[in-house]
Amino acid sequence: MNGTKPRRAYVETYGCQMNISDGELMEGVLEGEGYEIVSSAEEADVILVNTCAIREHAERRVLGRVGQLSGLKRTNPDLVIGVTGCMAQRLGEGLLEKAPHVDLVMGPDGYRTLPEALARLRPLSGNARRLSVLHLTLDENYQGLEQRRRSTVGAWVPIQRGCDHRCTFCIVPYVRGAEKNRDPQEILGEIRRIADEGITEVTLLGQTVNSYVSGDWPFPRLLQAVARVDGIRRVRYTSPHPNDVTPDLVDVMAMEEAVCEHVHLPVQSGNDRTLKRMVRRYTVDSFMEKVAMIRQAMPKVALSTDIIVGFPGESESEFQDTLDLVREVRFDEAFTYKYSPREGTPATRLPPGQFVSDAEGQDRLERLIEVTRGIQAEINRAEVGTVVELLLERTGKHEGTVLGRTRRSKAVVVPGEASDAGRYVSALLTSTTGATFVAERLEAGKPLAGVS
Ligand code: 5AD
Repeated sequence: MNGTKPRRAYVETYGCQMNISDGELMEGVLEGEGYEIVSSAEEADVILVNTCAIREHAERRVLGRVGQLSGLKRTNPDLVIGVTGCMAQRLGEGLLEKAPHVDLVMGPDGYRTLPEALARLRPLSGNARRLSVLHLTLDENYQGLEQRRRSTVGAWVPIQRGCDHRCTFCIVPYVRGAEKNRDPQEILGEIRRIADEGITEVTLLGQTVNSYVSGDWPFPRLLQAVARVDGIRRVRYTSPHPNDVTPDLVDVMAMEEAVCEHVHLPVQSGNDRTLKRMVRRYTVDSFMEKVAMIRQAMPKVALSTDIIVGFPGESESEFQDTLDLVREVRFDEAFTYKYSPREGTPATRLPPGQFVSDAEGQDRLERLIEVTRGIQAEINRAEVGTVVELLLERTGKHEGTVLGRTRRSKAVVVPGEASDAGRYVSALLTSTTGATFVAERLEAGKPLAGVS
């Protein structure tokens, strides 16, 4: 202990958009307490590794990273290392044993108390300097906490936390607790402030975002109100549950100009028996009806999805049903996963003989990826030659390029520079890798001077 107060905090986030948003929230809480937020671990007095628990792979990566960061304690013995988020919640105090250099373990409902926890740790040293904050509480809806937004282009806005579903593969309800919805007026107030700062795109976040309801504000009403906030040009939301895709929601999407023509609709499997054992609470037919309803209202909509292969007991022919569904829907993008057993989830209690071998799971995953990528490439190749509106986000990999996104959420590289972030341009798609596009910037239908 040298008596100096840790003032510089570094937050490193893994996992989903909700986690990115939580990372910004922790930064906001710490900044509000006078911490300076720094962008590298080496500069920091406090390092928070904000973790994901969705698959085993995500957790292994984090443990490796924490081990690496621990090395910094050699030159900075007062360094505080915290592990936050879903993996922290899942492993709890066990993490303090597994990773001896970790000082603080904090689950997703503890962030309000982060400064207090750090203040408690500061005067302690060695083995005494260990603290876990792991209670999940129905009262914590993050009211009044402001995120420190890193992007000046788009903002993630959590409107709901936790989840009331019990999909049998999923750890989320156990690490994030029950569904809690934020007050609509507070959400709208936050989005008005975001718009006043010049941010034009918002993405509403929730584990099953479209099951949002607060008093007489169901999700479609909130979405409509958000879409009508002055200055907001693009609204997205993620991830919806198929069962809460209602005619009202589809109407709002179709009617409100600001709501983008993209829906991420996790299907998980194309087989009814598997869906039932996953407790997804829909069938292939009812999922297809939702897809049809969305497409009828918005013919140009892009659809993306999440799919798990090798769920316990999934037979080859049931896996084939998933391939069939994918070929029928033709998703613009699919995020595909091999089932990863998560301790404490119901699927791990299925008879051991049912488990799909790792090799078989990998083989199914590869076959699925081949089909989904093929479809994606076909769809995208057909879009080459069209003109799209891009919101430019950040510089690209190559000097003199910037990355933008279409309303349909396709990633596009165009000539440009960092100062273009936040601008809307129209662009002609000239080629595709299959997944992303290259485009020419247009102004009044012509390429910009000096841009080839
Ligand atoms: N194994 C593999 N994939 C999973 N997902 C959630 N839990 C698991 C698991 N145990 C996937 C689902 C979800 C996405 C975020 O992660 O497809 O939609």
